[in-house]
Amino acid sequence: MRWTLSAITGAAALTLAGNTPPPPQPELIEVVELPLPPVAPVNAKGACTASINPHRTGCIGKVSDSFQAGDFTPDGNHVAVTVEFIGAPVAPDPASIYRDKQLILVKTDGTNFTNGDPWKCLSCGVPSEHARSVDPSKDYPHVARNARQALWGHNILDCGGIPLVSDLCSPNKTHIYPIYWPTSVNGSGTPREMRMHPDDIHMGWSSFTSGGENSYYGRLQFNPHPTNGTLRVPRYDLVDVNLLVQPNGKSPIMAHGSELTLHDQAITVGELRGFSGSGDEILYIGATREANNIDIMSVHIITGAVRRLTSHPEYADPVAFSHDDRWFVTMDTRGSDRQMWMSGMRHVPPLIDIVATTAAASTRNNGARRFFQPILIDRHGDRGEYFGQQVNYKGDGSDGSVNDPNWNGKADPAFSPDGTRIVFWQSLVVSPACGGENPLPCPVSTAQGGRTYRVMLARLSDREPTDEAPVFAAPDKIPWATPFPLGASVPTPYTLPAGNFTLNGQSSGFAKVALVKDPKLGTFKTVSVKYKNYSDDGIHFINGYESVTVTLEASDPWANHVDWYSDLLQAGAENATKITGPGGFHLSINALENIFEANGTLTTTVDAFRISLLLLLDFYSFLPRLPPPIQTKAARLLDRQNGAAWRRLIEDVPKIIQEAGIPLTGMCTPEDTITPVLVDLERGIGINGIYDDGHETFRLCKPGEWSFCKTARKPYDIVVSSDGDYDDWEPARALYASLWPGEDIEGLWPKRDDGERAETGEGDEGDNE
Ligand SMILES: *[C@@H]1O[C@H](CO)[C@@H](O)[C@H](O)[C@H]1NC(C)=O
Ligand SMILES: *[C@@H]1O[C@H](CO)[C@@H](O)[C@H](O)[C@H]1NC(C)=O
Ligand SMILES: *[C@@H]1O[C@H](CO)[C@@H](O)[C@H](O)[C@H]1NC(C)=O
Ligand SMILES: *[C@@H]1O[C@H](CO)[C@@H](O)[C@H](O)[C@H]1NC(C)=O
Ligand SMILES: *[C@@H]1O[C@H](CO)[C@@H](O)[C@H](O)[C@H]1NC(C)=O
Ligand SMILES: *[C@@H]1O[C@H](CO)[C@@H](O)[C@H](O)[C@H]1NC(C)=O
Ligand SMILES: *[C@@H]1O[C@H](CO)[C@@H](O)[C@H](O)[C@H]1NC(C)=O
Ligand SMILES: *[C@@H]1O[C@H](CO)[C@@H](O)[C@H](O)[C@H]1NC(C)=O
Repeated sequence: MRWTLSAITGAAALTLAGNTPPPPQPELIEVVELPLPPVAPVNAKGACTASINPHRTGCIGKVSDSFQAGDFTPDGNHVAVTVEFIGAPVAPDPASIYRDKQLILVKTDGTNFTNGDPWKCLSCGVPSEHARSVDPSKDYPHVARNARQALWGHNILDCGGIPLVSDLCSPNKTHIYPIYWPTSVNGSGTPREMRMHPDDIHMGWSSFTSGGENSYYGRLQFNPHPTNGTLRVPRYDLVDVNLLVQPNGKSPIMAHGSELTLHDQAITVGELRGFSGSGDEILYIGATREANNIDIMSVHIITGAVRRLTSHPEYADPVAFSHDDRWFVTMDTRGSDRQMWMSGMRHVPPLIDIVATTAAASTRNNGARRFFQPILIDRHGDRGEYFGQQVNYKGDGSDGSVNDPNWNGKADPAFSPDGTRIVFWQSLVVSPACGGENPLPCPVSTAQGGRTYRVMLARLSDREPTDEAPVFAAPDKIPWATPFPLGASVPTPYTLPAGNFTLNGQSSGFAKVALVKDPKLGTFKTVSVKYKNYSDDGIHFINGYESVTVTLEASDPWANHVDWYSDLLQAGAENATKITGPGGFHLSINALENIFEANGTLTTTVDAFRISLLLLLDFYSFLPRLPPPIQTKAARLLDRQNGAAWRRLIEDVPKIIQEAGIPLTGMCTPEDTITPVLVDLERGIGINGIYDDGHETFRLCKPGEWSFCKTARKPYDIVVSSDGDYDDWEPARALYASLWPGEDIEGLWPKRDDGERAETGEGDEGDNE
């Protein structure tokens, strides 16, 4: 991972706040696929035949819009999953209960339930008098720490004191109760994305406003005989509700006269994402701290102290903490380069986000397609050159492999209670995000029955089980939040005035900021910023101009059109540019649909020079040692440099070869013929060692032609035999040092040897075909 980081941040030493420990080393993680019910080919009555499922316990479809894997049971041996059963026969066939959306438990330890299946349904066949007015929202399945209840969307499934995993927990013992939040008064909106506190009593959720979102916290209270409200069935009321807004609290950007100030401690719970492992912190997506870079934050339930957990320029969203509070895993686009074109330049204050946040957040998806992978990060979050570790880093990137980029992470991931395993799920890219006019051909699913979703179990093999942190005593009233009884109104937030302002860099320089409002809507329309030697950290300096205008549609608050002009230059610890092409960049996107339509270009270039150098060295020792996703990233980064880095690379190859002084040959030759090394702007690079020192040819093609280039796609193929550790890379380090004195060498080579490298691909063995 460090390589990626130096590409993003430069090799600058960042000072870390307080007692933050040094970042952890990468660790060994093995990923396997978990079993699911078998796939029926079609959704017709009886299509789930006894030959497909001899146990007659249900079938699922190739595609499902409502599938979601959730988290572990307290024993760590099961995961809660919402499936959509199809093809059930009609009643009174006993198999007729395996229909529609249901909550199942899936074994994670390779054993079966007594029914002979590695799964069992918790909600199937529950008598209708035990499941009255069940809420249709059945997302984010979560097993309560008490093991006897589950949060199933906007419902509580309860097994009457019996653990859900027990054979004794039968449909007749099970009740499903809707969760009720009276919302009709003053438009607090409908709840969405409910998350349960580790105390099993308090809840967090979000609710859309017109084009935005607020988040809430409250307490579950069982109401067996409701005498008020619209839902007169046994239900769980959400009471003691807090709106997660600090009355008169700081806003992230505020104006004082003609000066703007930034407030990192502002509490901005945009979308609530859950709780820490002990429940002392609320996790959320909040206001950005750097332009176009959406991150995960946490706020302490009592003190209101805010921590920024992610800072990588890519987009982070679903997140889960380990129960010991020491780690979290987030679903993040990092590694995909999906958002780097707009967010790759770091340390730019979030001024244009006043109008560009929706565009920055929405472009993360392509319609239904996500670009997430699970990233494991310690509790202190991204820092310095540490940006966590991709959980599913192993594999060869081939179709269906553990790290196949066409299998994309979905929400939510989860930790086993003992901290040694992570469960996450993925879906395969499907039309229209591939195929047809789309240049990406649709992959053929390798999952059972051609299924386009799968649940993955990651074993953190280096770890010992840890104890759960004691559950935090969560209050009913959050001291910094706003009480929100029935009928309360959402207070009007602080809004910046329109006008011209100055934002002074904390270390040097300033930004001149013009804020223009839409006279009709009263919302901000244009933000224009001129930077002069602006620096908050004293090592990254920004100069140049950026202006974004948003056009909102009165008829659809989620529709955004932005006209974007950037000409930014960053110098200092990192060289970067962010530049729009002639005529600017124009983007239309609807935040609920995520179809990215744009004209013009916006190009961010970060440390192009350094990237080319690193790629050059790869053919000796470095690249084969990186997890394949990072190799792919390296190829893509080079691809993105508009040809400049490629030319630089071609120019530098002879220098490196001369300095290395190792006999080399070109490509594709009989073993006893030595030919010139191939170094050509058009034909690319082809290099091999000679005679016994040779192996498969290293081949790197011109950007844009990666797909024809085996080693660009799977560069680790080149040096399959390259065993060794830090010491074995000494020659490469020495070579680098002599070519480019003064560069930080140690930072470029991770010290820890990932000794399992030679077994690449092994993680696929557990995949259930
Ligand atoms: C579990 O059941 C499956 C069939 O559903 C069977 O193939 C497998 O061998 C069983 N595993 C164990 C450990 O009994
Ligand atoms: C469940 O209860 C119903 C009556 O409510 C009864 O007819 C049925 O046999 C019971 N099923 C089981 C498995 O106990
Ligand atoms: C509805 O009734 C419950 C108790 O049954 C009570 O706690 C709650 O305050 C009532 N809500 C309203 C709006 O009266
Ligand atoms: C709704 O909010 C308004 C103020 O915005 C307030 O006057 C009114 O009383 C509220 N309605 C109820 C039922 O509380
Ligand atoms: C703000 O600055 C812009 C130039 O950036 C200028 O055109 C405009 O007149 C200024 N507005 C005010 C209110 O001073
Ligand atoms: C930018 O600020 C730094 C730090 O104050 C200073 O050393 C440097 O000379 C400034 N550069 C310019 C071009 O003003
Ligand atoms: C940035 O570019 C300048 C000028 O090309 C160069 O001197 C400097 O070393 C570069 N800095 C980094 C961190 O690459
Ligand atoms: C791109 O240009 C076309 C042709 O001028 C226009 O119809 C379309 O609306 C533009 N799209 C965006 C997002 O600007």
